[in-house]
Amino acid sequence: MKHEKVEKNVGIMIILIIVAISFGTLVELVPLMFSKETNEPVAGLKPYPALQLEGRDIYIREGCNTCHSQMIRPLRAETERYGHYSVAGEFVYDHPHLWGSKRTGPDLARVGERYSDDWHRAHLYNPRDVVPESNMPAYPWLFRDEINAERTPKKMRALRRLGVPYTDDDIANASSVVNGRKEIDALVAYLQGMGTLIQSRR
Ligand code: HEC
Repeated sequence: MKHEKVEKNVGIMIILIIVAISFGTLVELVPLMFSKETNEPVAGLKPYPALQLEGRDIYIREGCNTCHSQMIRPLRAETERYGHYSVAGEFVYDHPHLWGSKRTGPDLARVGERYSDDWHRAHLYNPRDVVPESNMPAYPWLFRDEINAERTPKKMRALRRLGVPYTDDDIANASSVVNGRKEIDALVAYLQGMGTLIQSRR
């Protein structure tokens, strides 16, 4: 009879559903907040150096993450193709993280050091020059445009507020590091750093 009462009263039903879902969410989320595995950086993890940080922002601006995930799942088919599966501790300084799940192109979580800088430059200038069947867009303007060096220290300061351990020196030197560099330099630096802390098993 009590059950019937709940089923026939939308108000009570909604409240009970919210209680049930909130409880489930808490049970799943709260333990993760206190688990070392998910919020401690992997050994050797450092905040992105200024050039890579700018490269990451270009990656987001150009929407690379709409075609490329950065999350290797712990499944054999994935680890054989891409290398060691991704672990949470690799992403503690990523704000926002770019894991994604849509893969029009390959996962890039461990693409760092797999190709030469020249390969990346040729590929980003026109993917068809190195991979004839590619349907990835070309990004020629990255070779023309320079990084706005004034903004780099501000970005670092904002990230520091979110817990990324940039030092005062990092922030003070940021502008001079990226000043005059082209956007392509930053993007390639970012790509070459990706996933290199945990070695691929190949
Ligand atoms: C419309 C979807 C699409 C977008 C947007 C896109 N890519 Fe790709 N990307 C692909 C496809 C498809 C491939 C596989 C063919 C190739 O190598 O060109 C690829 C391959 C790659 C590879 C080689 C990966 C490997 O393991 O061989 C890199 C690196 C890469 N993309 C970087 C980028 C970057 C950086 C951007 C943004 C500036 C970007 N991509 C934007 C579709 C895309």
